[in-house]
Amino acid sequence: MQNVAEKTTLHLNATARRGLHAPLHRRYPVMSSIDFAPDTPPVDDGRRRLLVVASSAMTAIGLAAVTIPFIRSMGPSQKAKTAGASVKVDFSKLEIGQQITLEWRGKPVWILRRSEEMLRLMEAPQHRQRLRDPDSAELAQQPDYARNATRSINAEYFVVIGICTHLGCVPNFRPEVAPEDLGPEWVGGYFCPCHGSRFDLAGRVYSGVPAPTNLVVPPYHFHTTTVIEIGIDYEDAMQGGKG
Ligand code: FES
Repeated sequence: MQNVAEKTTLHLNATARRGLHAPLHRRYPVMSSIDFAPDTPPVDDGRRRLLVVASSAMTAIGLAAVTIPFIRSMGPSQKAKTAGASVKVDFSKLEIGQQITLEWRGKPVWILRRSEEMLRLMEAPQHRQRLRDPDSAELAQQPDYARNATRSINAEYFVVIGICTHLGCVPNFRPEVAPEDLGPEWVGGYFCPCHGSRFDLAGRVYSGVPAPTNLVVPPYHFHTTTVIEIGIDYEDAMQGGKG
């Protein structure tokens, strides 16, 4: 495929979800090689876990996962990355309910493939009324094209920067419905254990938690039907990549 720089395979790290309080450089160690781990045990309780994909061939990110799709990441050169270049990710093997994490400008960016059930629960009136900004009215938290209830271009694919808008921790991905520790009203989302902030699977913040705003959606577009480019809007990409 044109512009494909490298193929990156995934390395599963069962401790990733436990390490989310650590500084970013500790949570996402740079690895000198990237392994494929086909024998990872299957999930035991149906929970979907975090998949992590590197943004270049020499960079990998810790992760935990249920299954192991092969996901290609097409990273820019180190020089371009330092300058804040965009990052392309082939998401064609991402399964419904799975999430991958990649690195863009030193920040974790999540891509979640949402199920119809996830979307249905997110839009339930009783859920919306628990949210501070259910329709993404706050401009600064997302580009215009993601200023909607699902906070996305395509509702099935959610792209968001995985940093809590309170004090910058990385929330946990908790897609389960009504788990014991989060309560019966939990419809899946992101929980920040630092101070208890809650976000749903559109990154919309709950009312009454420390985080003041929804999670930030970065500029992005669908480069092809199977590739998302993070860091640049479609219009800018068409004009030669000003992002
Ligand atoms: S940093 Fe997330 S709740 Fe404080």
